[in-house]
Amino acid sequence: MSEILPGCAPIGLEVMSEILPGCAPIGLESIRNQDSSPIIRLVGVETTLLGQKVLDGVTLDIPPRQITVIIGLSGAGKSVILRHMIGLTRPDRGQVLVDGVDINLLSRKGLYALRDRFGVMFQTGALFESMTVFDNVAFPLREKTKSGEGEIREKVTQVLALVGLPDTGGKYPDELSGGMVRRVALARAMVMDPEIIFFDEPTTGLDPIIRNSILKLLCDTWREFSFTMVMVSHDIPEIFNWCHNLVVVRAGKIAAAGPTASILASEDPFVQQLVTGDFAGPVSLL
Ligand SMILES: Nc1ncnc2c1ncn2[C@@H]1O[C@H](COP(=O)(O)OP(=O)(O)OP(=O)(O)O)[C@@H](O)[C@H]1O
Ligand SMILES: [Mg+2]
Repeated sequence: MSEILPGCAPIGLEVMSEILPGCAPIGLESIRNQDSSPIIRLVGVETTLLGQKVLDGVTLDIPPRQITVIIGLSGAGKSVILRHMIGLTRPDRGQVLVDGVDINLLSRKGLYALRDRFGVMFQTGALFESMTVFDNVAFPLREKTKSGEGEIREKVTQVLALVGLPDTGGKYPDELSGGMVRRVALARAMVMDPEIIFFDEPTTGLDPIIRNSILKLLCDTWREFSFTMVMVSHDIPEIFNWCHNLVVVRAGKIAAAGPTASILASEDPFVQQLVTGDFAGPVSLL
C-alpha cells in the first residue's frame, strides 16, 4: 500500500490495517457482493444552482450491497450528488435511476415511498435539540410506521446498543460530545433497517480515535446487514481501509470511479494528488 500511496500519513496503511483488523480493503474485497447490476445510476446529470453549473455530465453507478465512498475537494459537488440520489435536488438534464426507475418521474408519494428505503445522515448529523436521544432515534419509527411503543422501545434500545450508546436514551443532544452526536445520528439513520444508507462526512471534525471507531462501526454494521452504503468522506487516507469502491469528484465531474485498489493505483495526476494529499500536483493552492 505504501507504494500505491507514496507520501501518505507516516503511520502507513500497512500499520493501519493492523490497527483496524479485518476491515482492510482485502478483507472487504473478499466479501464483496457479486451482484453487479447497479442499484443507483446517475446518467448524464447536469445541474445549475444559482447560475453555477455544479454537476456537469455526471454518470455514475453505485453497486448494491457494497460501501462506496465519494471523495473530492471542497465544493466539488459531493453533497450535491448525494442530494440527487435522494431526490432532494432535481437535475436540469439527465437521469437518477434507483433500481432502474427514474426517481424524478415519480409522484411525490412514490418518492416518499422510495425514501422509506433510505437511511440518511447529513453533513452536520443534525439532531432535534429539544428531544432526548431516545426520541430522536424513535422519530422515524413514530412518523413512518404504526409500531407500538413497546416495539419502538425494543428497536431503539437495539440500535443505540449497536452504536455503543446503550445508556444514553434519556440525554439531550447538548449533553453529548460531537462523536456521540454522530453515533446517535447514525442510529437514527439505521433504525428503519434501510436498504441504502447515505452518509455525508459522518466523521469530519472528530478526533482520530473516534473517527476510526465510527468507521469501524459502519464497517461492522455493514458486515452484519450488507446494505448499500454511499458515503462522502474527507478521511484520507484511512477511509481507503473501509470501502469497496471510490468515486473521485472534480469540479462537478467524475474524475475516476471503481474498486478502491484500482483508483489508488490510478495514474491520473489529480487522483494521485488527492489520494496522497500531496501539496504538489495539478491542484495548487499556494
Ligand atoms: N443549494 C445550493 N444553492 C446554490 N449553490 C449550491 C447549493 N448547494 C451547493 N451549491 C454549490 O454547489 C457546489 C458544490 O457543493 P457541494 O456542497 O456539493 O460541495 P462538496 O463537494 O460537498 O464540498 P464540501 O467537501 O465542502 O462539503 C458548490 O460550489 C456550492 O456552493
Ligand atoms: Mg459536502
